[in-house]
Amino acid sequence: MQLYPDMIELSAVTRTYTMGDNEVHALAGVDLRIDVGEYVAITGPSGSGKSSLLNLLGCLDQPTSGSYRLDGEAVSQLDDERVSELRSRKIGFVFQSFFLLPRLTVLENVLLPLRYAREPDPQAPARARSLLDRVGLSDRLTHRPNELSGGQQQRAAIARALIRAPCLLLADEPTGNLDSKSSADVLRLIGELHAEGQTVVLVTHDAEVAANAPRHVRLRDGLVEGDDRRG
Ligand SMILES: Nc1ncnc2c1ncn2[C@@H]1O[C@H](COP(=O)(O)OP(=O)(O)OP(=O)(O)O)[C@@H](O)[C@H]1O
Ligand SMILES: [Mg+2]
Repeated sequence: MQLYPDMIELSAVTRTYTMGDNEVHALAGVDLRIDVGEYVAITGPSGSGKSSLLNLLGCLDQPTSGSYRLDGEAVSQLDDERVSELRSRKIGFVFQSFFLLPRLTVLENVLLPLRYAREPDPQAPARARSLLDRVGLSDRLTHRPNELSGGQQQRAAIARALIRAPCLLLADEPTGNLDSKSSADVLRLIGELHAEGQTVVLVTHDAEVAANAPRHVRLRDGLVEGDDRRG
C-alpha cells in the first residue's frame, strides 16, 4: 500500500478528437505516474500528443477514456466547476508566449490569479514581492511587460504561476521564445524550484532542454515510448 498518493496517476488514458468522420487518437492509452517533487520532461515528435497530454494534466481537458488522479483527487470524475476550482488551486501554468497582460505592471500580473479569489488575501502583495525577488525581478515591480526582456517576462510568468503555491507546475515549451542566455536562466530557475520541492512537468521538443530534468518521458503516436531516469 502507498502511504502517499502520487502527484499524477494516469491509467489507460486516451484522448480522441473527432473531426467529422475522422478520428484522431492523440493519446492512445497512456499510463504514467509522477511522484511528489519530481521534475519530468516530456518530449516527442510533432503530433505525438505532448500538448494533448499537458492539457489533460493541467485539467484544461478531460480524457476520452481512462482515469486521471491529481494529488489524490479523481479529476476524471469531477464536474466542470470543481475541475476549474481544482485547476486554480493546484496547478500553475507557464507557456511559451508568457501571456502577461500588457496594461498591468509586473506586480499586478503576478497578483492576477488571486483577483477572482472568494476572499481577499492581505498577505498576497507581500507574497508576490517575495516571489518576484525569488525570480530576480525585485527591481522591476512597476514595469510593464513590454519593458522587460523575454527572459524577464518568462520569470515574471513563473512568479505568477506560483502565487497560489500550486502543487504542480506545468510548463509548455517555456524556453521556446527565448535566446540561449535567457533559456539558461529560466531553466536554472525551474531547476532550483524543483530542488526546493516543486513538482514540475515540462513539455519540449528540444532534447537539450529535456536534459535538465532528472526524468525524461518520450511520446510517440500517443503512447509512452520511453521513460528514463538520470543518475
Ligand atoms: N483540437 C484538436 N482537434 C483535432 N485534432 C487535434 C486537436 N489537437 C490535437 N489534435 C491532433 O492530435 C494529435 C496530437 O496533437 P498534439 O497537439 O497533442 O501534438 P504535439 O506533440 O503537442 O505536437 P507539436 O510538437 O507539433 O506541438 C495530432 O495529430 C493533432 O493533429
Ligand atoms: Mg504541442
